[in-house]
Amino acid sequence: MTPLNSSETIELRRGEARFRPLVDPFQRAITYLRVSVTDRCDFRCVYCMSEHMAFLPKTELLTLEELDRLCTAFIARGVTKLRLTGGEPLVRRGIMTLVASLSHHLTTGALKELTLTTNGSQLQRYAAELKANGVERINVSLDTLDPDKFRAITRWGELDKVLAGIDAAQAAGLNVKINAVALKDVNEGEIGDLLAWAHRRGMDFTVIEVMPLGEIDESRLDQYLPLSIVRARLAERYTLGEIDYQTGGPARYVRVKETGGRLGFITPLTHNFCESCNRVRVTCTGTLYMCLGQNDAADLRGPLRASQSDNLLQDAIDEAIARKPKGHDFVIDRRHERSAVSRHMSTTGG
Ligand SMILES: C[S@@+](CC[C@H](N)C(=O)[O-])C[C@H]1O[C@@H](n2cnc3c(N)ncnc32)[C@H](O)[C@@H]1O
Ligand code: SF4
Repeated sequence: MTPLNSSETIELRRGEARFRPLVDPFQRAITYLRVSVTDRCDFRCVYCMSEHMAFLPKTELLTLEELDRLCTAFIARGVTKLRLTGGEPLVRRGIMTLVASLSHHLTTGALKELTLTTNGSQLQRYAAELKANGVERINVSLDTLDPDKFRAITRWGELDKVLAGIDAAQAAGLNVKINAVALKDVNEGEIGDLLAWAHRRGMDFTVIEVMPLGEIDESRLDQYLPLSIVRARLAERYTLGEIDYQTGGPARYVRVKETGGRLGFITPLTHNFCESCNRVRVTCTGTLYMCLGQNDAADLRGPLRASQSDNLLQDAIDEAIARKPKGHDFVIDRRHERSAVSRHMSTTGG
């Protein structure tokens, strides 16, 4: 697949008025796009999906060519970091043709980083190809090193396969960061060991607080473990030193003195990171979410399909960014235990 708009054109277009950088009403430049390339997944993590998920019919999905065109339109407006996610991005058929096509923007310098978040199940197959296409860093989600717990959390996953995937990624020269969701009574006793394991292997480690997104089969209150507690427990075992390290994502980092590695915390419920928000998210159907924690969205599939030129698409992007809210409204409704946001994380890709 060749890119519909070449990166040379992008450099020229960035000089034109209608291709000015995307800046929201609160003067935040939008430089980071997260794209969910599929809502499907080979796992059914208990905090993310119900066991019997109804997935979208294929006709609703953007084709790989349309995803490429959409990403390219954002790159033309100043997006320099692109993260592919899902569902599980590496189960989308033909995904590497999209990666290869987007990697042209790395070659020209229009894009600074192309990365992905994955459950690791397909990395044995794809790690080398990702690296060959300019991907330098990936995030792998892994909540436990205990095979039975792993099966209980992911319902369908196999720990061995993911560990082999991580081996393959490191062997291919990819920089791997491990993300773990902190789950009350499930992995809360294991987080210190996971951290030590990741750091021994030279991988950064980030803990994520459960976010109330989408209806799942279990109670959010049963899963919710504030990261303030996780951090306090880790601080009993390790020396955590504040550092000034930013990846353009929402994590706050500390350095663990005993391991020398970095530890990140993503705490959407107990810490507000909205002031510095530089990102928006697109789903696999071309719906643009301006904020992970709000329901307001804009349809980009309509304008994308309505015309071969990108004018309608760029107008729709402008209108949407003008509505990007100042911050989010995450709440776990304690009386009804319902999410404030009804879509699943697998829809917007986290
Ligand atoms: C939706 S997944 C998509 C990418 C890929 N399938 C994976 O698991 O890495 C992206 C991240 O969101 C996290 N996640 C999913 N549901 C969540 C929730 N309700 N609260 C917090 N994190 C969640 C996952 O653990 C994963 O790290
Ligand atoms: S967290 Fe990732 S691996 Fe787990 S069900 Fe959601 S999309 Fe799939």
